[in-house]
Amino acid sequence: MPGPQTRIDGKPCDGPMGESPLNEGLQRRQVLALGSAAVAACCFGACGSALAANPAPAAERPQKGDWLVIADEGEQEGKVITLDMLNVGGAMMNAWPVDAESKTTRSKSRFNKVIVVRVEPGKLDEATLAKSVDGVIAFSSVCTHQACAVTGWIPEDAMLACPCHGSLFSVGEGGKVLGGPARKRLPILPLAVDADGMLTVADAFTAKVGPAAQT
Ligand code: FES
Repeated sequence: MPGPQTRIDGKPCDGPMGESPLNEGLQRRQVLALGSAAVAACCFGACGSALAANPAPAAERPQKGDWLVIADEGEQEGKVITLDMLNVGGAMMNAWPVDAESKTTRSKSRFNKVIVVRVEPGKLDEATLAKSVDGVIAFSSVCTHQACAVTGWIPEDAMLACPCHGSLFSVGEGGKVLGGPARKRLPILPLAVDADGMLTVADAFTAKVGPAAQT
């Protein structure tokens, strides 16, 4: 499981995984580690070096036409994400949007980070399906409770989980809260795919990212 979580204000979360009601549930389930199944198809520039050369787009929210690159640390970091890199029920990926014009990774704000998963398209409701590509869908990685990173993925139930206080979010129902203290659904970053199979951003986040009090 991931290490200690930090809130957006820099303070540690007060409900570590070990005290979370989610913990027991997660231990009973297979929670896939993010990024482990990623197979790189292509990479722009030097992998991992697509970091901000230009501070403005690096902090701006994702824009239509942005690419997505792998945000997980390791060999895959910085690689452009293509549709065929994600399997139904497979590992989730953390991703950053990249300004397609300046090639700037929008990594100056953690509010720009997204989680990408793939499920059977039939598991998505109509509104969610419209924001996905062949069952591939991206959500904000910032929990809407107290802004911890959402790191749990339970593919058999198509649920995302926050380890801090156990909030659960439905992938199929557009990030709807299924349990825990969060009161606001997890925003979606609508996706498209280009002729080369690269995932691109189709529109802005469906709602402001993070806890309601922060947005
Ligand atoms: S920050 Fe509390 S459940 Fe996510």
